[in-house]
Amino acid sequence: MRVHVADHPLITHKLTVLRDKNTTSPSFRALTEELVTLLAYEATREVRVEPVEIETPVTKTVGIALSDPKPLIVPILRAGLGMLEGMVKLLPSAEVGFLGMVRDEETLQPTTYAERLPDDLAGRQCYVIDPMLATGGSLIAAIDFLLQRGADEVIAVCLLGAPEGLEAVKAATAGKNVTVVLGAVDEKLNEHGYIVPGLGDAGDRLYGLV
Ligand code: URA
Repeated sequence: MRVHVADHPLITHKLTVLRDKNTTSPSFRALTEELVTLLAYEATREVRVEPVEIETPVTKTVGIALSDPKPLIVPILRAGLGMLEGMVKLLPSAEVGFLGMVRDEETLQPTTYAERLPDDLAGRQCYVIDPMLATGGSLIAAIDFLLQRGADEVIAVCLLGAPEGLEAVKAATAGKNVTVVLGAVDEKLNEHGYIVPGLGDAGDRLYGLV
């Protein structure tokens, strides 16, 4: 597994505002979208492309276009939905699948409660989006799910991660074609499975307490 921490000053600045407990839900949503567009720029460095011939007003030339099959973006519900717009802005021709996962707040184990994905993911680059890489449980389950369906490569895009979660994902995906792109790696997980200093519950901060 490859890890890329995109520690650009604009990313860190926007993350700082997200971390602030006084940032309201509307600002949190808007900032998440901006931040994801910046992270997506880093995460798509190896997106598959192929040569295409075009004609400029002056001459023929060869450029590049995204290859088929197009990338698949997979938000992990619910908090991953907050990252979808930012990702789709940068990859408008991508397809979008959905994975619904919830973690038990006692055991911290994830279960899948919804899935809407193509049956066959052969040849696909899949971009999993989930804001918080905490214990890594949901991300590991999502990556397994996609690789078992035949995905060629999984690129996870997260706003924040904890060292414990990153180690868990690393151990579970050894030798597999997996990359994790994050805005920052924080200090640790606390006893409730929250990232410290973190930003709290990303789903609640995006959508309110429901
Ligand atoms: N999920 C969140 O939303 N926040 C955390 O800190 C950990 C998991």
